[in-house]
Order: sequence, then structure tokens, then C-alpha cells
Amino acid sequence: MKVLGIEFAPLNIPLHRRLETLAVLQWTLCFLGLGFGCLFLSIYVLFHTKYYWIVLLYLPWYYYDRMTPTNGGNQNAWVRRWRVWRYFCNYFPIKLHKTAELPPDKNYILGYHPHGIMSVGGFGNFATEGTGFASIFPGLTARLLILRGQFMFPFYRDYLMLSGVVDCSKESLEWHLTKEGTGNASVLVVGGAVEALRARPNTNTINLKNRKGFIKIALKHGASLVPVFSFGENDVFDQVPNPEGSFLFNLQQKMTRICGFSMPIIQGRGVFNYTFGILPFRRPVNTVVGAPIDVEKCSNPSQEQIDKLHAQYVTSLMKLYDDHKDKYSNNTSTLEII
Ligand SMILES: *[C@@H]1O[C@H](CO)[C@@H](O)[C@H](O)[C@H]1NC(C)=O
Ligand SMILES: *[C@@H]1O[C@H](CO)[C@@H](O)[C@H](O)[C@H]1NC(C)=O
Ligand SMILES: *[C@@H]1O[C@H](CO)[C@@H](O)[C@H](O)[C@H]1NC(C)=O
Ligand SMILES: *[C@@H]1O[C@H](CO)[C@@H](O)[C@H](O)[C@H]1NC(C)=O
Repeated sequence: MKVLGIEFAPLNIPLHRRLETLAVLQWTLCFLGLGFGCLFLSIYVLFHTKYYWIVLLYLPWYYYDRMTPTNGGNQNAWVRRWRVWRYFCNYFPIKLHKTAELPPDKNYILGYHPHGIMSVGGFGNFATEGTGFASIFPGLTARLLILRGQFMFPFYRDYLMLSGVVDCSKESLEWHLTKEGTGNASVLVVGGAVEALRARPNTNTINLKNRKGFIKIALKHGASLVPVFSFGENDVFDQVPNPEGSFLFNLQQKMTRICGFSMPIIQGRGVFNYTFGILPFRRPVNTVVGAPIDVEKCSNPSQEQIDKLHAQYVTSLMKLYDDHKDKYSNNTSTLEII
């Protein structure tokens, strides 16, 4: 239904689609605003209401628990299996594809590409059971590594951790690799915030040339590296044009350096219309998990060893991409790595 150039959603939508939209709406709002929401609400409650004691009681916990995001987090199997996450994944839909076994007698670093605007595939696949990670990779525990700043927000941090997100610092990544256990899969969105500024439909530009820290950590601890390519991650939002060198792009780059997170100006859809809004579009996201690259432990790797393993990782990521692009992507040109 189209009125004055605005395309409205039809009225007779089946219930499951409405629930899917609702699941994505609540997630998008939480992603964009719940952190600051919790912070401002806590300050308000503390200074302006008689319930200030709730915040006062929370403060010692906030202090006591401050290292948890770095030390494995606090994931909860029940929260990860909430039905809302299945609706969330079915909206796009997000699908998880396995191309090789990841036996649980090792630890893994999964490199997730591309970042997209909000990494919906990273969250749906690895921070929830919405696509059935536990049954596809039995015996593995997945954790999604996200910006450390997210864990500053009171209450929000506790909620976040229940789904299995931890912070993306070096210490956090190493935590899973230095303890006795195996069967841990840490999912790192390698391209980081700057990659989001290049995320737009039908492009596949990834930021990997100078990202070598995770390679070094894999060598130091003998963790297997697994390339993951998420086709469609860049398609779910449009973005206001910001070609390289433009005023907007330079400003966004500068802000990213200052804040640690980037601010792409997103163009999505609304709840009742398909023309404006901040909701992602219903476009498929196919996340393909590649074969593991086994890495021999070397406590003090040389630059040469790091470069060699990095090149091997890039080659297997490009192969993974080429093997699946015809099935899952509209843009079949080769992967652009910057
Ligand atoms: C992951 O690592 C932790 C810490 O070393 C360990 O306790 C756990 O058994 C490992 N495996 C799984 C599947 O969580
Ligand atoms: C395909 O992706 C590449 C790499 O991101 C991009 O440069 C190119 O413009 C894209 N092609 C189309 C037709 O969108
Ligand atoms: C990819 O191509 C299909 C078929 O032409 C089209 O329906 C879909 O919208 C395209 N996806 C994107 C992200 O442009
Ligand atoms: C489309 O939906 C968005 C979000 O729900 C809303 O902000 C916007 O005003 C709507 N546009 C029209 C023309 O209804």
C-alpha cells in the first residue's frame, strides 16, 4: 500500500510476523537507548525519589562485579533460549550454517565479518539460541565480544551479560584461553566500529589488513581460528551517503576515535511503514562458519609468524566467501579487504 510515496505495511499481517517485528523493535530500542536509559533512570531514582535505596544497594554489587565482563561474563541458558530471540532471528531471517565440525576439545576464536550496523547476525547467532547454536555446535559455549563501554551502564550490564556477551579487551579474550577448560568459542567482530561506517546494502568491504591482535593471541595460546562470514549483515540497514573524504565521513571517523563507537546515520523502516524508521529491513542474513585453522602454541610469536598466520586466515576467509557468495549474496565481486 503506497500513499504519497510512503509505503505502509498492510493491515492483515499474520500474528507471527507481528511478533517478529515486536521482537526486533524491542531489541533495536534496547541497543540504541537502554544503556543511557538505565543510567539516567538510576540517577533520577537516586536523587529524586524515595526508592533511592535500590540504587544505593546496587552500588556495592556494581563494584564487586566489575571484572565479570572481562572474566567470562555470566551467561544464562534460560535467557539465551527465550522465545523472543527465535522471533528476532526469524524476522530477517538469520540462519547459521556449519561447514566443518568444531570439536569441543579445543578453544576457538571466531572472527565475525562484516560488522554491519548493529551486528544483528552476531547477536542472534552467538548471544542467543535463536538459531540453535547449542544443537549445531554441541559442547561449545559461545560468547560474543562487544565494546567494553557497554558494561559501564548500571543494570543494563547485568542484563547484557545474561545473553553471553563479554567485553572485547585482550584480557577478556585471553581469559577463556588461559584457564583449564576447552570448548569455548569467543566471537570477535574483527572489523570493529569503523567498519560500520562502510556498511551498506550489497557491499562487502571489511577492515582486516591491519587487524592482527587476535592473531597474536591465537598464537600465544594455541587457539584455533575460525573465519565466519555473515552474508546480508550489511543489507539490513541503509545508511546516509558518507563517501570517503566527505565531511560526514571525516566527522564520523573523528567521533569514532573519541568515543570508541561509531555513529552511522541509519535509514531503516518503521513499524507501520516501510519507508522511514530505525528498524532493520527484513532481509536474509546467512552466517557461514568456516573450518577451523589449528594453531600451534608459541608463547612469544615473532612478527613473521603473526603475518604468516594472518595471511592464512585471510586466505581461508576469502575462500569461505567465494564458496558461498553465489548462494547468499547479490554482489559476487571479490571481497574487498582494507
Ligand atoms: C570454557 O572455559 C572455562 C574456563 O576455562 C571452563 O570452565 C569451561 O569448562 C570451558 N568450556 C565450556 C564448554 O564452557
Ligand atoms: C560489491 O562490493 C564491493 C566491495 O564492497 C563494492 O566495492 C561494490 O561497489 C559492490 N558492487 C555493487 C554492484 O554494489
Ligand atoms: C538481492 O536480489 C533479490 C532478487 O533480485 C532482491 O529481491 C533483493 O532485494 C536483493 N537484496 C538486496 C540487499 O538488494
Ligand atoms: C514511519 O514509521 C516511523 C517509525 O515507526 C515513524 O517515526 C514515521 O513517522 C512513520 N512515517 C509515516 C509517514 O507514517
